[in-house]
Amino acid sequence: MPDSPIKEPDSEHKLAARLRGITRSFGDGGARLQVLKGINLDVRCGDITMLVGPSGCGKTTLISIIAGTLEADDGELDVFGCNLRTMKKSAITRFRAENIGFIFQQFNLIPTLNCIENVSVPLLIQGKSTRYAEKKAREVLDRVGLGDRMKHRPTQLSGGQQQRVAIARALVHEPKLIICDEPTAALDAKNGRVVMELFESVAKGAERAVIIVTHDNRIFQHANRIASMDDGSVIEVHDLDGVTPLPAHLLHLAHS
Ligand SMILES: Nc1ncnc2c1ncn2[C@@H]1O[C@H](COP(=O)(O)OP(=O)(O)OP(=O)(O)O)[C@@H](O)[C@H]1O
Ligand SMILES: [Mg+2]
Repeated sequence: MPDSPIKEPDSEHKLAARLRGITRSFGDGGARLQVLKGINLDVRCGDITMLVGPSGCGKTTLISIIAGTLEADDGELDVFGCNLRTMKKSAITRFRAENIGFIFQQFNLIPTLNCIENVSVPLLIQGKSTRYAEKKAREVLDRVGLGDRMKHRPTQLSGGQQQRVAIARALVHEPKLIICDEPTAALDAKNGRVVMELFESVAKGAERAVIIVTHDNRIFQHANRIASMDDGSVIEVHDLDGVTPLPAHLLHLAHS
């Protein structure tokens, strides 16, 4: 099985996530599909790491494993030094509630709750009071430009507005790792910029990191590291210094 390349370890950056030989398949017998084929990846604190690659190559599967919502079949997975492969399910659930903000490709907002209530959920899960949770939810909704939609339910919002509610919900408990599946797909240029600036301010924290799955080459300028995947493997990892342009073949990959 192909192994994906690893960048040389670098002592300047702590690792938010370290993956070695991660595999995952779905289905049984003849219908078994090997979706991840030995993923190696370092996600550094202080970085925005973007994950690109063609539809179906395994991006959502991979970030679900990093977030602890899906189990790997094999390999090593450390997130902020915790070995998620050996932790009990209940411990992973607690770890996730404390440390990870996840923005799903399909938003996954709760249809019966309004914006404030949706965004409050991660804080309520942590045992914070409703009053505190709603105050925080209002602040973050304001930051993503939804100050005038606080009481709307998801069905009363546009796709881009729903996406921003999902982003607010992922940020509200100030998690150390934000993981986003196509966070700007439904956003116009202005809101895309607002959201990326929020992610940049998160990633600036020495102990924090952001992972973004994207096809949106408008946001590549915000990446510190781009990992490109194909057919279940990370085939290339590219560090950006903010000056050197991204190689054309990576731009092309992101479009496919
Ligand atoms: N629960 C599942 N059961 C069976 N197959 C699955 C399951 N989840 C994902 N797959 C398969 O795994 C492969 C990778 O899916 P994944 O969602 O990770 O792709 P992706 O890179 O995120 O694609 P996209 O860019 O379209 O979102 C696909 O072929 C998909 O059909
Ligand atoms: Mg996906």
